Amino acid sequence: MGRYVLSMGSGEQFGVPATPFYYYDIELLRRTLSTVMTEAGRYGYCVHYAMKANVEPRILGEIQRAGLGADCVSGYEVACAVENGFSPDKIVFAGVGKSDHEIRTAIEAGIFAFNCESLEELEVIDSLAAELGRSVNVALRINPDVRPETHRYISTGQAESKFGISYTEIEQALSKLPGLNHIRIVGLHFHIGSQIRNLASFGELADRVNEIAAWFEERGVELRHLNMGGGLGIDYNDPDGEPVPDFAGYFRMFHEHLRVRPGQTVHFELGRSIVAQCGELLTRVLYTKTTAGGAKFAIVDAGMTELIRPALYGAHHRIENLTAAVATGVSARPMGVYSIAGPICESSDVFVRDLEFPETYRGDLLAIRSTGAYGSIMASNYNMRPIAPSYFGDEDRSV
Ligand code: LLP
Repeated sequence: MGRYVLSMGSGEQFGVPATPFYYYDIELLRRTLSTVMTEAGRYGYCVHYAMKANVEPRILGEIQRAGLGADCVSGYEVACAVENGFSPDKIVFAGVGKSDHEIRTAIEAGIFAFNCESLEELEVIDSLAAELGRSVNVALRINPDVRPETHRYISTGQAESKFGISYTEIEQALSKLPGLNHIRIVGLHFHIGSQIRNLASFGELADRVNEIAAWFEERGVELRHLNMGGGLGIDYNDPDGEPVPDFAGYFRMFHEHLRVRPGQTVHFELGRSIVAQCGELLTRVLYTKTTAGGAKFAIVDAGMTELIRPALYGAHHRIENLTAAVATGVSARPMGVYSIAGPICESSDVFVRDLEFPETYRGDLLAIRSTGAYGSIMASNYNMRPIAPSYFGDEDRSV
């Protein structure tokens, strides 16, 4: 409801903040968190929030209070998770290029486990732990060679990707372990990619994990933890049709496929599915124009600096004209066809091309939906633009 109040005004004097800005529906976030915890709780699964999706302190606070742990991919995220109240014993740290400084930060914080991505990294973690007089938990991130149906830039689990220890190297990894006295191998970690809508890919992952875990067990490695990573996709086309992703189906898929030994814990690292739908990017139309070929453009005040996903991955986000949506009766708007583009001096700074959209004018307020994940966190200062602010649905103002 709050978002429609926004569309009435045309400037700060109406209680609408200057655009562009991010707006987060905290009530939807809470509903999402309660669903994820209930569905994971059915099987005793542990959920870590993938910090890379969004680190707004308000959002982290909600997530931490709901009982999730944190999944980090940099020492900075580890420090941020600790500052925002996540208990270190619920923090996991993955990343293909952890620097010595970042590894030290995580060892000193006393995190639950490193997800280690190469043989050399095992040795570096061991020697840094030795220097600090500590002993640390390590899960081996194994590249399972599973190909989910998703964009190639966000697919990580196939043999030629840079992520994880390849299954051709795990024998060598095992032979190194006896010489590494400051690390304990506590489990295995996997992550096959992001925005995966076909749940069967997760069944395939679990089947593969069963084979790999059996291989380790046959060699006497006790696996206390299995970490399945993240990747559950969301509905970008119809955010109101599926505001909360299908966590029930997702966890059920693992429950049906994954073999779990007595005492073993199963972990997940979900990012997008937790925060994407609660966020939207609000922007105003600056100009409209028509190309020589007759195509109409609406140029808005948000661009790839606020939301890079369309420019980087060709990602689709639903866009709504909130001002047109409240116009009724004689002022109701007929439909047209528009490309909606940002103000940045790059041809790729286009959110959508040739979209069927209500007739649009300068000053109209638009909402770019499903931007809570990988939106504000991937913002940049290109063209010297400031970082857009964030507002929250439960704040005491008219947004
Ligand atoms: N765990 C690991 C090891 C990961 O690399 C990722 C995401 C996740 C968990 C969380 O995945 P999620 O549940 O959010 O799918 N910027 C891209 C997405 C990059 C995802 C990178 N890794 C986008 O905007 O689509």
